[in-house]
Amino acid sequence: MRAGSCIFALLSAPIAHAQWDPSRYLYFNSAGSALSSSLPLGNGRVAAAVYGTATEKITLNENSVWSGQWQDRGNANSAGALSAIRQKLTSGDVTGAGQQTLDAMAGNPTSPKQYQPTVDMGIDFGHSGTLGGYTRVLDTRLGTAMVTYTLGGVNYTREYVASYPAGVLAFRMTASQAGKLNAKISLNRSKNVASNSASTSGGVNAVTLKSNGGITFTAEARVVSDGGKTLRSGSAIQVTGATTVDIFFDAETAYRYSSSSAYEAELKKKLDNAVKASYEGVRTAAAKDTEGILSRVDLNLGSSGSAGSQPVPTRLSNYKKNPNADPELVTLYFNYGRHLLLASSRDSGDRSLPANLQGIWNDNYDPPWQSKYTININTEMNYWHALTTNLQETHKALFDLIDIARPRGNAMAKKMYNCNSGFVLHHNTDLWGDAAPVDKGTPYTMWPMGGAWLSQHVMEHYRFTQDKTFLQDRAWPILKDAADFYYCYLFQYNGNYVTGPTASPENTYIVPSNMKTAGKSEGVDLATACDNELLFHLFSDVLEAAEVLGINGTDVTKAKDYLSKIKAPQVGSKGQILEWRSEYSEAEPGHRHFSHLVGLYPGSQMTPLVSDKLSKAAKVSLDNRIKAGSGSTGWSRVWAMNLYARLLDGASVWSNAITFLQTYPLDNLWNSGENRWFQIDGNFGFTSAIAEMLLQSHSVVHVLPALPKSAVPKGSVKGLVARGNFVVDVEWSGGAFVQATVTSKSGADLELRVEGGTAIKVDGKAYGGPIKTTAGGKYTVTKA
Ligand SMILES: *[C@@H]1O[C@H](CO)[C@@H](O)[C@H](O)[C@H]1NC(C)=O
Ligand SMILES: *[C@@H]1O[C@H](CO)[C@@H](O)[C@H](O)[C@H]1NC(C)=O
Ligand SMILES: *[C@@H]1O[C@H](CO)[C@@H](O)[C@H](O)[C@H]1NC(C)=O
Repeated sequence: MRAGSCIFALLSAPIAHAQWDPSRYLYFNSAGSALSSSLPLGNGRVAAAVYGTATEKITLNENSVWSGQWQDRGNANSAGALSAIRQKLTSGDVTGAGQQTLDAMAGNPTSPKQYQPTVDMGIDFGHSGTLGGYTRVLDTRLGTAMVTYTLGGVNYTREYVASYPAGVLAFRMTASQAGKLNAKISLNRSKNVASNSASTSGGVNAVTLKSNGGITFTAEARVVSDGGKTLRSGSAIQVTGATTVDIFFDAETAYRYSSSSAYEAELKKKLDNAVKASYEGVRTAAAKDTEGILSRVDLNLGSSGSAGSQPVPTRLSNYKKNPNADPELVTLYFNYGRHLLLASSRDSGDRSLPANLQGIWNDNYDPPWQSKYTININTEMNYWHALTTNLQETHKALFDLIDIARPRGNAMAKKMYNCNSGFVLHHNTDLWGDAAPVDKGTPYTMWPMGGAWLSQHVMEHYRFTQDKTFLQDRAWPILKDAADFYYCYLFQYNGNYVTGPTASPENTYIVPSNMKTAGKSEGVDLATACDNELLFHLFSDVLEAAEVLGINGTDVTKAKDYLSKIKAPQVGSKGQILEWRSEYSEAEPGHRHFSHLVGLYPGSQMTPLVSDKLSKAAKVSLDNRIKAGSGSTGWSRVWAMNLYARLLDGASVWSNAITFLQTYPLDNLWNSGENRWFQIDGNFGFTSAIAEMLLQSHSVVHVLPALPKSAVPKGSVKGLVARGNFVVDVEWSGGAFVQATVTSKSGADLELRVEGGTAIKVDGKAYGGPIKTTAGGKYTVTKA
């Protein structure tokens, strides 16, 4: 049976199997009813959210379809007001400083562009009534989806593939009996449609929708059928009496091409090639690409048995009552985070776009927070697992956006701060690299640290990959440009170089009695702990990069000078890390952000092996905030998981993972934030935290640093990556390390630690300190 053999080849676990591997498949026995119960796939640029309804609905997105062109929103009064605002800050008038900051420095308009849906595809099969044996699955290893059911004695099957090599999406629909398949294929969009039409001329059956919206684009579905008749029906293509119908989809936009004829030529080329390659050809190449990347990591945290064979919504509701019965929900969530990043962030030319607030999936013309890039935590969190879980090819899209943003940030540094060098970004950006402050409120609008935080990613990319060409050509210009801004922008105060006006995203404090507006709740301050920690890491990264590249001169002397004058994290009267310049009381002790702990994660300045004193203070701050109700959105809860992992507290990572899975996942396992709105950061930060629990490498290659010994006594993981470009496989049992294999990919020196300092042997010899490795060498680590 033709249809069956295709499914078997595609999904490798045959449908006939009663159980879908609960660590690998999102399995449903019903269709989706909203975007939050759809099945998401994508090739990093074009994406689909599959409902699997009787009349199929697929929400289709292209990642550069946003609401419009770049606009200079920078406030011309900013540079002139800066010294007066700083004067107010240093003299204790924080309320006045905050007011003047909003008046003189907020952007106009206050928001950059927003991410928008591309088109919806409808496929009307003429099916209604009860669909027998309905099954809908997403495969997190191949990045594919599948729907099957029986109706009137015929098996119907739909497969959905996102191809990175072909640059298109491909869908196949089949009937188990010849000639039983009818399908009417249409595209729709409710805004800015220039044309929507079908054509069958020259044997090419296509539905084409052109938009004249903010960023113009053309989207097209090509229809190829096996058997039956194909006709144009209004703006749809109608196939009747077929056995198989294949659809190839692409959308191309003005963002990457200079004219509509240029992007339409690209669209035609991709679709012509895909049709020529055939559905099987596209599917085979896509599966090879995706599986090649996603199968690098294999995680086993124990087996769920029958609890894992339930459909996802049932697993989620059972998990609320009995989390211990379904440990594979954690494994599935980990695997899903890797699939989702690969599907939403790939190298698609010199203007790749990174995963945005909803990854790449969006059906709303006015999405929450514009579905843009929020760079005071959320965009960074999207990439926390990119390197540790062996997905380094997803990272490049983020570097492309940084490079798009740099010239905008250079101009904004001049306009707002009168700085002739360096780039500044505030707490959001968009596909144009918008650099101006966003929104209008003191806890978030004024925060000139977005460039510093994003820049950490290029240095981490080097640390993990050891790619010196990347460090020289891509990372160094970004690090230097980021640092150059602060050499101009920072000012001297009480012997330190400080930021201001700034915030501790997005928290507020009670103005103390020695300041002008005592008792008020405020957000603006100078030299927040978050800023100091980000600057510590930026200048340290500049020095590390310069050393590797053999760079000497003013770049190095300046970084050293500034690093020495950045205030170290301060410990307060309760043993906590002080979040602001001095010990203010917190207006909201359970605030969702952990901005003052960026030096613990994703930074490393406050980790136990680096600073015992700071790690203890960070733990006080973290525990207090969680006790007061933080972790109150999905991304906040998973940030806490990563922070506890860095404190080597596996039991707390696990208990927060349980709370997260009991609270935040939507029906399709997407993370939710406020109002249960989809936000992808929590998916990614969750995956990162599970990796961080099993392997860390910010100071040494630390195997099982935070194993939750009683919850996960036995398990294994293969393919995690440590800094130094080491690939690590590890097994544990009885709550303790058994064995690890470290593959050295670049021949770096290997300094090891296992658990809390377990004595170990490497290749049978007692380990006494860092070992020289050879590129390609494998090292077996066992208990001494
Ligand atoms: C497909 O048809 C076969 C019989 O040809 C049947 O055994 C099977 O259950 C059907 N598949 C589904 C998903 O219902
Ligand atoms: C397609 O049409 C439906 C129904 O009118 C609408 O809800 C949906 O938003 C449209 N899709 C797009 C992408 O505009
Ligand atoms: C860099 O310059 C400093 C001061 O001029 C000098 O002490 C140091 O040896 C130089 N390092 C290299 C690698 O040239």
